[in-house]
Amino acid sequence: MPHDDRCIGVFDSGIGGLTVVREMRRRLPNERIVYFGDTARVPYGIKSPKVVTLFSRQIVDFLLRFDPKMIVVACNTASAAALPELEKQFDLPLVGVVKPGAREAVRAANGRPIAVIATEATINSDAYRRAIHSLLPRVPVHQRACPLFVGAVEEGRDSDDRVVAALAEDYVAPLRGLDPAVLVLGCTHYPLLKTAIARAIGSEVLLVDSAEQTAETVHAELNARGALTASPAAGNLTCYVSDNPQRFREIGQRFLGHPVVDVTWVSLDELVVADAHAPA
Ligand code: DGL
Repeated sequence: MPHDDRCIGVFDSGIGGLTVVREMRRRLPNERIVYFGDTARVPYGIKSPKVVTLFSRQIVDFLLRFDPKMIVVACNTASAAALPELEKQFDLPLVGVVKPGAREAVRAANGRPIAVIATEATINSDAYRRAIHSLLPRVPVHQRACPLFVGAVEEGRDSDDRVVAALAEDYVAPLRGLDPAVLVLGCTHYPLLKTAIARAIGSEVLLVDSAEQTAETVHAELNARGALTASPAAGNLTCYVSDNPQRFREIGQRFLGHPVVDVTWVSLDELVVADAHAPA
């Protein structure tokens, strides 16, 4: 059987991408993962596509040092704003979170309206709508930015918190009137608020988790390329962050579902030096 024992690179604007890593480790327990969280420059969700693309390119350059067989853009905002550009510049398989989420939404909605919640930058990019319409033109797509959810999760608030319930009522409940069949959780942090979001949208609306769908896509792509690892040993997770490794360890556990052990700080200077693809 062809195989590839090299690592998979994963990156996010910060800690949220660990929800994608969590699903990847569930489906691909023997793979080695090298994760980069840009904790010095988070959030990306309020930044321009130009800046998100610049940061993403620097991170991909950094991850190339580990000779990955694939890079997963675990951040919805970076997938929405930067992935097409990254695909032009880098010659290795890149998987984002938008297309897998859109594909599952179209499948599950069966022609009925689809709602998407995400950061401001992801909604403004219209990437989910475009990805959905490339699969099923004309299906109604309703999008809503929910910027304060990210801060609420990072503060440790969960679905039982009254602030989260109020935010969900304000952001999500109005979508109910548009009668969606499916609601896409188009941000790394939203899976942690699934219960509150489900309460606000109603039990008849199916929630699509981009993190789960992305892990499935990573598995399918590696399998199709004969690039799954053949290692019988359990895989591992090595993390690099651009600021505050201690906070990443503490909060990361909630995103990953178990302690985050191996976290190293990388200075932004080092990242910028790694940016071999910067325009001259
Ligand atoms: N990781 C981002 C996303 O999925 C959320 C946090 C941020 O705004 O950077 O869009």
